[in-house]
Amino acid sequence: MATTLDRPTEAVPDGGPVPVTATRTVRVVRTPRGEGPRRWQRVEVPVTSSRMTVLDALTWIRSRVDPTLDVRHSCFHASCGTCGMRVDGRDVLACVTRLDDLPDGEVVVEPLRNQPVVSDLVVDIEALYEALEPMAVPLVRSSTLVAGGRPAEGVEALGRFEDCIECGLCISACPIEATDAAYEGPAVLGAAWRVIEEPRGADPGPAYEMVDGDQGAWRCHLAFECSEACPSEAGPGERILHLRRGLLRRRVAAILGRRATSEGSGR
Ligand code: SF4
Ligand code: FES
Repeated sequence: MATTLDRPTEAVPDGGPVPVTATRTVRVVRTPRGEGPRRWQRVEVPVTSSRMTVLDALTWIRSRVDPTLDVRHSCFHASCGTCGMRVDGRDVLACVTRLDDLPDGEVVVEPLRNQPVVSDLVVDIEALYEALEPMAVPLVRSSTLVAGGRPAEGVEALGRFEDCIECGLCISACPIEATDAAYEGPAVLGAAWRVIEEPRGADPGPAYEMVDGDQGAWRCHLAFECSEACPSEAGPGERILHLRRGLLRRRVAAILGRRATSEGSGR
């Protein structure tokens, strides 16, 4: 009977050898920097723990098989938003996607959709950062509560779009983004609603105006794929619905205001 000691082992840099419990075939799309055809690369990866993630597998490939594989990551715990990619056809954070939770067979890894691929699994998310800047960043808190602090009354009840980690998963999942690059997109629209929802003394008018165009809140088809994909439960799809209601209220208020003015002036 095989024992742990009979199994192959995988040496780790600091610590003893770790028992290899299985192997998984990871199939990764490779896109070279600059010119060149895309290709698939298959690698057998030793599984050393039931907690091993897709990001662990990819970093193993980089360190043991092919250092040219480009993967972006930072925190390893779902807070920096940099490791977004598609795994078995779903938009996920690779650092919290366990191999054990995936269907049997090959693990298929691709870059996020609807954003330019820089190389391999790295996409250029600059457009999202630039779009968020005028929409929300000036009004979003730059600091969080100190230890033992309490949020202001009422703030707890608000869905905080600060939960957005700017990972781009919603952009990859959105069916409108797939066909219309000019669409403002779920992350930006969600951030706009956050500004309107809690303006903190600022005039929400400019945020409303930014999202009231053809490529704004009205362009969304309410597929809610964005909210499904969002790893932070920021709920961009629901925020777009709130935006539309707010825009309608403003239009009705403007019409009623004009009517009252014309009636008041006897015209
Ligand atoms: S709304 Fe969610 S999915 Fe979209 S960028 Fe923010 S955290 Fe990521
Ligand atoms: S590495 Fe930071 S979210 Fe995955």
